[in-house]
Amino acid sequence: SRQWRGIIEEYRDRLPVGPDTRPVSLREGGTPLVPAQVLSELTGCDVHLKVEGANPTGSFKDRGMTMAITHAKEEGAQAVICASTGNTSASAAAYAVRAGMVCAVLVPQGKIALGKMGQALVHGSKILQVEGNFDDCLNLARGLSEKYPVALVNSVNPSRIEGQKTAAFEVVDMLGDAPDIHVLPVGNAGNITAYWKGYREYAENGPASRTPRMWGFQASGSAPIVRGEPVLDPSTIATAIRIGNPASWTLAEQARDESGGFIDAVTDRQILRAYKLLASQEGVFVEPASAASVAGLIQASEQGKVDPGQRIVCTVTGNGLKDPDWAVAGAPQPIVVPVNADAAAERLGLA
Ligand code: F0G
Repeated sequence: SRQWRGIIEEYRDRLPVGPDTRPVSLREGGTPLVPAQVLSELTGCDVHLKVEGANPTGSFKDRGMTMAITHAKEEGAQAVICASTGNTSASAAAYAVRAGMVCAVLVPQGKIALGKMGQALVHGSKILQVEGNFDDCLNLARGLSEKYPVALVNSVNPSRIEGQKTAAFEVVDMLGDAPDIHVLPVGNAGNITAYWKGYREYAENGPASRTPRMWGFQASGSAPIVRGEPVLDPSTIATAIRIGNPASWTLAEQARDESGGFIDAVTDRQILRAYKLLASQEGVFVEPASAASVAGLIQASEQGKVDPGQRIVCTVTGNGLKDPDWAVAGAPQPIVVPVNADAAAERLGLA
């Protein structure tokens, strides 16, 4: 058996790369599709989790970043720039190292998880904490990339969408066909756009006989697509999707409408409940934003929108280790014991 080679090598014929393209890769993709027993029982469906936290930097961004950085390198760029709520910057920082490029990242001050900040730092990127939100950061990054010789690697870069569409290919390759429904968290709306592109391509010219309905979920304090207007001061504990004016807004609406799906909102409380359910009942530790997909599925099920017997895939987008504060918060302090078997047994309720 051989190692998974990364999404560009595995799907070369379906990506806009030439025969001589040399991928900048950390062997991203090939992530687990895990059957979700408790969610399946809860909904009466066959639910699977696409665990994107298993990517090299711990989120789905690596799929897009291998493409964006590979292209930037081919075009001779020496530096890349991105705005980020944390995961894009972690990924860009790592892939820039592989490519021997300088990486600049703009993040909203005080609003990115510590693990993600640590990643950008340890990979040696130049970090600016901007006194504004993600939308401000993206405007700045766009402006800088127009004025200076730095390649923009946010999902407004079409290479990013091309890379991320491979997650849909993997789902079909693993299940044998497209699911009935695909559920995603929505922030800047690049990923729902990418999955829809992947599913369409696999149905038009590939192994899938159909496309799924696309269901997207925003956090209720950051739900511009649901509200139908930009949110000037977005808020949510799910910092990864704390976005008030998504760059791929129209494309996300297209994915929703062409697929016969919907985009709705879930509260932070619902997100945290789904986050805990995933960890304590499915054994899958994700970051809060990732739990928005599962919170949305549970909400839809409670609203009677989920017919039993369907095959459903929820993407959980990022690893729980990136933002462990929410795992520790509210949990009881671990008990301290002396180096003594009797004391340990007593405290564990064994004796
Ligand atoms: N889940 C996680 C863990 C994310 O980091 C993001 C986006 C999303 C979901 C939403 O995906 O933006 O394609 O709709 N994070 C970006 C970042 C904004 O900067 O890391 P989307």
